[in-house]
Amino acid sequence: MPYKNVVIYFMSGTGNSYRVAEWVSRIAEKEGIPKVEFSSIETGIADEREQEGTGILGLVMPAHGFTTPWHMIKFACKLPRTRQSHAFSISTRAGLKFGKIFPPGLSGTATFLTALILFLKGYNVRGTTAIDMPSNWMSLHSGLKHSKAEAVIKRNKPKAESFMQAILSGRKQWLTLNNLYESIGGLLLLPVSVLYLFAARFFLAKLFFSNWKCNSCGICAEKCPVEAISMRGKGKARPYWKYNCESCMRCMAFCPVEAVEAGHSWGVILFYITCSAAAMHFLSLLKSHISALNFISGLWLESIFVLLYFYFALGVSYFFFSLIVRIPIINRLFTLTTLTHWYRRYHEPQTKLKDLSR
Ligand SMILES: Cc1cc2nc3c(=O)[nH]c(=O)nc-3n(C[C@H](O)[C@H](O)[C@H](O)COP(=O)(O)O)c2cc1C
Ligand code: SF4
Ligand code: SF4
Repeated sequence: MPYKNVVIYFMSGTGNSYRVAEWVSRIAEKEGIPKVEFSSIETGIADEREQEGTGILGLVMPAHGFTTPWHMIKFACKLPRTRQSHAFSISTRAGLKFGKIFPPGLSGTATFLTALILFLKGYNVRGTTAIDMPSNWMSLHSGLKHSKAEAVIKRNKPKAESFMQAILSGRKQWLTLNNLYESIGGLLLLPVSVLYLFAARFFLAKLFFSNWKCNSCGICAEKCPVEAISMRGKGKARPYWKYNCESCMRCMAFCPVEAVEAGHSWGVILFYITCSAAAMHFLSLLKSHISALNFISGLWLESIFVLLYFYFALGVSYFFFSLIVRIPIINRLFTLTTLTHWYRRYHEPQTKLKDLSR
C-alpha cells in the first residue's frame, strides 16, 4: 500500500526506543513517503494525525516486566478512534553480549498488548516486532561496556530496518519466529507481568535515592517523562521519587554527577517491611485491638488487605527513608551498600537528553 504519511510515537527512558524510532523513520523517508514524523509520547498526540486510509501509525517503547509500560498503555488508550488507518508496534528489549553470543531479551506481551489496544481503536495492525538493544535495567546489572553496547546496536539496526521495509511494502509481520518466541514467553510470564504492572514497579520506584554527590541541579525532576520526581527539602533540595515513576532509568542514566542510586541494602529492608508476612502480622495486631476488623478473613479479603498494606507501608517507609538519607553518614552507608554505586551507567551512545522529549 503506498502510504502518504507515517506518524511514529516513541516512549524512551535511555534512548534505545528513540533510536529505533529514528531508524524506522529514516527508512520511511528513504522509501519516499511524503510526510514522516516521529515524536515522543511526552509531547502528546499531534493534532494533525496520520491520514485515514493512507497513513500508518507506529508505537515504539521499551519492554518493562515482559509487557508494555503503563505510560505507553495510557497513551495508546488516549489515541483517537479510526476506521481505516494502518498501524504497527515495536518494543525494544534487553539485548546482551557475552563473548560472541548475543542473548535476546524477552518483551513478552509488550507489542501484542499495544497491538490489541490499537485494534480496539479501529486500526488495521499490520505487524509487531521486538528489537534487542543494550539492556538499560541498571537497578539489576551494570550498564553494558561501550564496545558491547555498540555491537548490540550495530547487529540489530538492520532488523528494525527490514521490519519497516516489509511493513511499508504492504507485507504483514505477524507470523515470524520472533513473534512466536515472544508470544510463548509472554503467556508463560503473564502472571509476572500483571504483578509488575500492579505492584513491582512501585517497589522499584521506591528504591531510588540520590547519593552525596547530588548538587540539587533538578535536571532529573525536569526531564522525568512522567513528572515522578519532586525536589524536596529546605536549603539543599533533593529528588523524591513518587508512585508514578515508571523506572525508565532516565534519571539514573543522565544525572550529570551519577548521583541517582537504586538502593539494594534499602531494598532488602523495604522487602521485609512490605512483604505479605509483615502485612498478616500487622492485621493480627489490628484485630487484637479492633474486634470490628475480624471480618477480614478468607483468601480474597486478606489478599486485598495485603495489597493495601503494601502500598501504605511502601509510601510511609519511603517517606522516612527520604528523610534519614539526608543525614550524611546514613547516606554514605546506603550508598556504599548499593550495587548501582559501583555499576556503569548506560544510555544509547548517540542520544542526548533533549532528543528524548522531542
Ligand atoms: C524496569 C525495567 C524493566 C525491564 N523489563 C524488561 C523485560 O521484561 N524484558 C526485556 O527484554 N527487557 C527489559 N528491560 C530492558 C529494556 O526494555 C531495554 O533495555 C530497552 O531497550 C530500554 O529502552 P529505552 O532506552 O528506550 O527505555 C527492562 C528495563 C527496565 C528499566
Ligand atoms: S540527582 Fe543528579 S540530576 Fe537529580 S538533582 Fe541531584 S545532581 Fe541533579
Ligand atoms: S523518576 Fe527516573 S526512572 Fe522514574 S520515570 Fe522519572 S526518569 Fe524514569
